[in-house]
Order: sequence, then structure tokens, then C-alpha cells
Amino acid sequence: MEKQEAKRLGHRLVLVVYPFQGHINPMLQLATILYSKGFSITIAHPQFNSPNHENHPEFHFVSIPDGLSKTNFSPSNFMAAISALNSNCEAPFQQYMEEMMKVEDPHDRVAGVVYDGFMHFAQVVAINLKLPGINVRTSAAATLLLFAVFPDAHHEKGYISFPESLAQAPVPELQSLDLKGILGSTEIPTPILELRATVTDTTKKASAIIVNTVHFLEQQTLTKVQEHFPSPVFSLGPFHKLAPSASSSLLKEDSSCISWLDKQAPKSVICISFGSMVSMDEKELVEMAWGLANSEQPFLWVVRPGSVRGLEWIELLPESFKERVEGRGCIVKWAPQKEVLAHGAVGGFWSHCGWNSTLESVCEGVPMLCRPYFGDQGLSAKYVCSVWKVGLELEGDLERGKIERAIRRLMVETEGVEIRQRAKDLKHKAELCLSEDGSTYNALNELAQHILSFG
Ligand code: UDX
Repeated sequence: MEKQEAKRLGHRLVLVVYPFQGHINPMLQLATILYSKGFSITIAHPQFNSPNHENHPEFHFVSIPDGLSKTNFSPSNFMAAISALNSNCEAPFQQYMEEMMKVEDPHDRVAGVVYDGFMHFAQVVAINLKLPGINVRTSAAATLLLFAVFPDAHHEKGYISFPESLAQAPVPELQSLDLKGILGSTEIPTPILELRATVTDTTKKASAIIVNTVHFLEQQTLTKVQEHFPSPVFSLGPFHKLAPSASSSLLKEDSSCISWLDKQAPKSVICISFGSMVSMDEKELVEMAWGLANSEQPFLWVVRPGSVRGLEWIELLPESFKERVEGRGCIVKWAPQKEVLAHGAVGGFWSHCGWNSTLESVCEGVPMLCRPYFGDQGLSAKYVCSVWKVGLELEGDLERGKIERAIRRLMVETEGVEIRQRAKDLKHKAELCLSEDGSTYNALNELAQHILSFG
């Protein structure tokens, strides 16, 4: 990112946010990146999970009525959330844009609508207003391909299914990873297929596609993605490194874990965090606790309040566990994760493999223990373990003995040493992409030119 305040270009981009943590973070980072190139920024976000406007005085914010009531809406049902947001936000957003364009200053003209791929209504509004729509993928480029390659195979029972015998079949488009590993299941429900088809159709209408990925991480896949989509694809990741921006956490970050990390030996700590959406049951919590205790490694464990079904937090864990790990374990409700992963004491990251967490770990050279739960997480875990080989996957039921062994394999055994070296190499390559003439640096300049060429 440019250090000096960039000259304003007189072009405004309106960014449309999908209001969940794993999407708010990259979208606000992207806003900071585009601002650094001289574009003025309006952030249009649903009322639900509103980002903190005060953290970004340089942006203009507009809140779109979303019709979601916190009382009857469950954020864990993301399919319902996407559907409601797309039907409820389109009309108010179009009205806002029309009014904005009526009184527009010739030195501050709307140059395009930049929207999260799940907020596909924004592309419709862009077309209605004859504005360029720019589609943003906050997950791996491979997910774009996945959506395009398996779009409409509907099964009469309401899902696409394939026999177990095909589960191990390699998919040439996706680094020859196996079908089940990529899809996470042998059965995909129709609503998910329909969403994928809608997102793919919308993406094909966009004037440009921005992906939060690093070119060398998905080189082969990106070539294939470009074959499926007519508009240019810009790999602008990792967003968080290109534009370190103010925290956009919806939960309060507990920074006490950083002073705790300061007291630990280099590369000794395993950090555990499952992002903003994963939930687990009580048994899994207990097995994790004892697996961590028995591993004898120092650990920093983020347990998000409400993430264990039926519990407020960790009230179930017995005194005997707390006594056993005293001084060696630190448990918090939410952490400044990027700072944690960049800390010299952290030597491993047990993650659900949300794409942001995966990129944040890769960029700090931290090897991973992968435990994917849903959506794109299985695919990211396959990348980490089978393609980049910078992690181990924790498969099957969570059981304390298995956890203890996996942690020791990653943190102290020879296998872990090799993984750590590869993770360090990956970090170095990611840094090169950000430097002058690196792939991300060049992609950003090309994107800025492309947007200005819309006229
Ligand atoms: C969701 C999906 O689950 C994920 O698969 C998809 O790729 C993006 O949307 P989430 O589960 O929240 O995201 O995971 P992730 O993508 O890793 O994003 C979580 C973000 O919250 C990261 O930027 C991480 O740094 C941040 N975080 C997490 C914190 O700041 N503190 C924490 O304690 C935990």
C-alpha cells in the first residue's frame, strides 16, 4: 500500500458488504486498498452486523434496510441469510444509488459497484443503472471454479449425489484433489446448487472479478477460472497484507493474550481458533481440552461465546483441567488473530480453514492443523495439506488421544520440522508477490487501469 495519501481520482466505488465476519474483514481491507489507489469509497452494508463506521473516517457509509430481525433470524442458517439479504436489499440499494447519481458531483462520479459475490442483487442494480459491476470472491479462486464446474446437476431427490466409489476420483480442474474432499460430502442439497448457479451466472455478467488469493498459490486454477468467466480476473491477495487496516471485528478482541504470548518460548505455542461461525458440541469441547492438556504444548485457545451448543462459554471444563494447564494455556473469547499469528511464539495454528484464517496463517509461515467443518473449509484444508503441504488434517471424530498425537506431530516431531520449512518458504513467496513488480502489486495497478477504462 502507498504510504502517502494518494491523490483522489474523482472516481467513487460503492462496495457492497455481505454482513458476516469472514466477509466484512476482506471487504473493508479491499476498500482500503482501492482507497490507496485514489478511489473514493462508499461502503453499503446491511443494517445487520453493521461495521464500525468510526474506524474508517475516510469512507462514506450507508446502511441498507435488510428486513432481518435479530429475533427471528438465525445467522447460522446462512442460506436463509443470503436469500433474505438478496431479496430485501435490492430495492433500497437501487433507490439509494439512483438518488446518489442524481445529485452527483462531476468530480466525484460513481465508477462502479464492487460487491461480495453472495450479494448478487448488486450486479442486477449495476446493470439497471448501466454501471460496471465488479464481483469480489473472498474465498479461494478454486471455489469460483467449483461453482462453475458443478452447476446444475440436479437429482430428483433434491440433491446431487454420487456413489462412494467415485469419492476418491481426482478432479483434474482442481489440482487433482478427490471429489469428496473438495465437495465435503457425496450429497449436495439443491438449494446450495441453486445458489452456486446464481452466483456463477452473476459473476459471468461482472465487468471484472477480484479474488482474495495470491497468484502462485492457485496458478493452475486461476488459468482454468479465466476459461470459465469472460471478464478479467485479478488476484489481489492477500488483502490483509496489501492494506493493513483497522480491526473490523464484531466481537471485542482480548489483547491480554499478546502479553501472555510475550512470555512463551519462540514457536512453542499452538493457537486454536475456528473463526466466527463454526459450532461444536460439549463432547468435542471436552476432548479438545484434554487433548491440549495431554499434548504438553503451550496453547492459546479462542473459544467464541456461544460456539459450544448449549453452553455460554467453557463453564463445563472442570477445575482439574484448569489446574493441569495453568500457565501453559491461555483461553480467550476472541483474539486479535492476525497479530497472534504474526507473533514469534506461535508455532502452529489449529484452524477450521476459513479462507481468511488460511491466508493469514500462510502469510506468517505458520504450519496448520486443519479441522474443516463446512462450505469452502474442506477445500482450503486440502490445499493446505495436499497441495502446499504446510499442514496436517485432523479427520474423523475429535478424540483426545488423536488430538494429542496430531499436535505433537506438528509441533515437535521431524514431520513438523519439514512442514515448518515449507510454510516458511510459502511466507517468503507471498512477500515477493507484494513487492514492486510482484503479481499482486501488478494486478492492483492493472485493476485500477481497468476500472478507469470504464469511462
Ligand atoms: C466464513 C466461512 O466460515 C469461511 O469458510 C469463509 O472462507 C469465509 O466466511 P469464518 O468462519 O469466520 O468465515 O472464518 P475466516 O474466513 O477464517 O474468517 C475469520 C476472520 O475473523 C479472520 O479474518 C480472523 O483473523 C478473524 N478472527 C477470528 C479474529 O480476528 N479473532 C478471532 O479470535 C478469530
